[in-house]
Amino acid sequence: MFQTAPIRAASQSDLTREMSDRLQTALTTHLEQAYAPDQRKFLRLFSATETADLLGVTGQFLRKCHSDGTLPEPEVIRNGRRFYSGEELFAARRLLEGGSRTAGKYLPGRRVDDKLQVIQLMNFKGGSAKSTSAIHLCHYLALNGYRVLAVDLDPQGSLTGFCGIQTELEFDGASIYDALRYDDPLPIREAIADTYFPGLDLAPAKLVLSEFETETAVNAGRGVAFFERLSAALATVEDDYDVVVIDSPPALGFLTLTGLYAATSVIVPMTPSMLDLASTQQFIEMTSAYLGVIEETGVQLDHDFFSFLITRDDPSDIPSQQIVSLMRALFQDRVVGATMLRSTAVADAAMLKMSIYEVARAEMTRSTYDRARGSVDAVGAEVASMIQRAWGR
Ligand SMILES: Nc1ncnc2c1ncn2[C@@H]1O[C@H](COP(=O)(O)OP(=O)(O)OP(=O)(O)O)[C@@H](O)[C@H]1O
Ligand SMILES: [Mg+2]
Repeated sequence: MFQTAPIRAASQSDLTREMSDRLQTALTTHLEQAYAPDQRKFLRLFSATETADLLGVTGQFLRKCHSDGTLPEPEVIRNGRRFYSGEELFAARRLLEGGSRTAGKYLPGRRVDDKLQVIQLMNFKGGSAKSTSAIHLCHYLALNGYRVLAVDLDPQGSLTGFCGIQTELEFDGASIYDALRYDDPLPIREAIADTYFPGLDLAPAKLVLSEFETETAVNAGRGVAFFERLSAALATVEDDYDVVVIDSPPALGFLTLTGLYAATSVIVPMTPSMLDLASTQQFIEMTSAYLGVIEETGVQLDHDFFSFLITRDDPSDIPSQQIVSLMRALFQDRVVGATMLRSTAVADAAMLKMSIYEVARAEMTRSTYDRARGSVDAVGAEVASMIQRAWGR
């Protein structure tokens, strides 16, 4: 149980250790209740309507595919209604793509000569919704038939938690740190775990990842340059994925920079407030300085897109809308047209370390769900079309 007696500590280090112990106990208790040890996170089933929508076909076409044997029946049929697992959805994509005359209709990922897309979400402003945007993008892309690798470059491990690995609890496996470290690094493949979400794999983060910052300072010039370490690691698994989504810490340190060098595209999530605008300006200024240093080593960096994404958007809040308008005036199509709306549906799902895609519509107030889902779908669709454009489609 929790210790709730007032803390009496002999020193500041004792005080903070006691605070950390209490938080750890509370978190472990909460997580053990939310996810019993034998109960791994799993993905809900999708209704026939949702499945047809995700496949981009009509309900009638889907039914016909079952009756003519193009698609096997899903395992779960309740009261005559079909429900599909994530695996069944992916399998349906493969079968339909095989019989489709338009290549890429059901499996829109890379074709021969298309380069792996590596999208980094970064902003040193804490709480700008980097991790929330990252997991929603991962889930959108995976549900839409892309093979996605999530890379968590934040030692806080928020994205790792969203992917079903609770860093607060015991977790022995290898992590992205092991692939980046200077002493005896592991092949990244050994650090990648599959997740309960079909189409999505994860290179998880642990707290030890923060060592990369100090080790880089000490090991400058040793082995692969610090900024090339992630891209060199990703090159060994690139055939397995269409898109890599990188979440970064709220800092512009070596971790963010090794991500930035690996990235083929960058998204800067930003909450529209005056303070966030000011800190985003500083962030971009520092980024420019660091990119200049990397370019001086003779490397040419070329991002397919470098765009701002408005997060926690509240269209009824006039001051914030003025900032949104300003951003659009300054950067035109370098601001993603759709925004991530501020929504209790997203916040509530996040409390359970879930994206909105993991919550069934019936579990929430419909209008709240539809509004939030519509917004994250629109952002996902726009990013997907930016990816397709990078592939020349
Ligand atoms: N669209 C949204 N609607 C409501 N709440 C949101 C939304 N997006 C993010 N949040 C909430 O805002 C907070 C910050 O989000 P998040 O953790 O994604 O930010 P971050 O940039 O990754 O933070 P950090 O800098 O610490 O890594 C979280 O509590 C999250 O649940
Ligand atoms: Mg985060």
